[in-house]
Amino acid sequence: MFLYASIFLSLLVALLAFYYTQTHSAMPSLAAIRQSNAAFFRSKPSVAADAPTAIFVGGTSGIGEGMALTYAKYTEGKSNIIIRIFASMPAPPGDGTSKLAREFVQCDATLMKNVHSATQTILSKYPQINYLVMSPGLVTLSGRDETHEGIDRKLAVHYYARWKFLHDLLPSLKAAEGKGEKAAVVSVMAAGHGGKIDLDDLGLKKGYSVSASMMTGPTYNDMMMESFAEQAPNITFIHTYPGFVRTPIGASSPSRALRIISHVFFPLVWPISVSNIECGEYTWSSVTTTATKPGAWRIGSRGEDLGKKNYFGGEVQRKKVWEHTVEVIRAALASPAPERPKAEVQK
Ligand SMILES: NC(=O)c1ccc[n+]([C@@H]2O[C@H](COP(=O)([O-])OP(=O)(O)OC[C@H]3O[C@@H](n4cnc5c(N)ncnc54)[C@H](OP(=O)(O)O)[C@@H]3O)[C@@H](O)[C@H]2O)c1
Ligand SMILES: *[C@@H]1O[C@H](CO)[C@@H](O)[C@H](O)[C@H]1NC(C)=O
Repeated sequence: MFLYASIFLSLLVALLAFYYTQTHSAMPSLAAIRQSNAAFFRSKPSVAADAPTAIFVGGTSGIGEGMALTYAKYTEGKSNIIIRIFASMPAPPGDGTSKLAREFVQCDATLMKNVHSATQTILSKYPQINYLVMSPGLVTLSGRDETHEGIDRKLAVHYYARWKFLHDLLPSLKAAEGKGEKAAVVSVMAAGHGGKIDLDDLGLKKGYSVSASMMTGPTYNDMMMESFAEQAPNITFIHTYPGFVRTPIGASSPSRALRIISHVFFPLVWPISVSNIECGEYTWSSVTTTATKPGAWRIGSRGEDLGKKNYFGGEVQRKKVWEHTVEVIRAALASPAPERPKAEVQK
């Protein structure tokens, strides 16, 4: 059994390696990506008063952490970073009296009420936001797992919470853009790896499965970016697929089987995987280089433009998913407090 599994996985890796060389041969090198990222951030005003502000939802681990550390490096610490203080993150320069922020806002994003209070806190302190990077996520094999607000936990972090963060923080992003500064939103999910969605079962109340959830999150993210781009035509909205990134996402899965699989699988995909810092570089390159104009973008694992490759959205779908989302979040915020509050305390 184990032998067969190993053979199967080895073949899979060979296939992936082949696919990788086919699709990535014409990609810019990591060194070139680093150069263009550095040039982009260097060209920005570097006085503290004009320091750019970035929010990292999911910045405590994995890809979000890679994005935050890369950003701190290129801005040489002259930036406001809202997530958490890392020992290895460049500190704001100066004598320690700097007004630059290194802040951690706590929020269990499975609950829309928590997201609402987090965004109100952020908005009150940061009237201008340049970058909103969202990568909260988890992998599980469990079925639909509803919070007391009626939303599946995985879909909540992969989609509804991201929509709510973006919706609420949009005024601050618009304010930065209105001053002539760069404003961009990045949602790290799985652009180009989604599927067709069921308009008769929005939110997967009826037909929830692991694969339906995997197909739905990315397609909803595509349309979320398009809808917000319509409302804020001068802001850049990027949905990315990060590729295989060495993060704790498998090892920290609530599903035991996935934890085991990830231990076998990760060493096998190691040759084609990247570190979270490398992924941070590639993902930032979508902002600094690939997305040459505002609007909605779909970006692949090396920062490349995917165009409409494997796109399952559309006008009708976009309108329906938007209305569905507005309603689900309205109902979540209006829902009564849970019977057993202990089960869902804020992290
Ligand atoms: N890694 C890959 O190879 C890969 C491939 C394709 C797609 N992706 C997608 O990329 C995204 C990021 O993955 P990753 O590998 O960076 O994962 P990760 O290392 O496990 O990090 C996930 C982040 O999400 C946060 N998070 C999880 N549940 C949360 C909740 N309820 N409320 C608030 N924050 C929550 C975690 O915060 P805490 O530290 O507080 O738990 C952490 O900061 C995910 O959506 C994943 O599906 C990853
Ligand atoms: C977008 O930017 C252009 C050029 O700066 C400006 O004229 C226009 O009013 C902006 N549109 C919005 C919706 O802010």
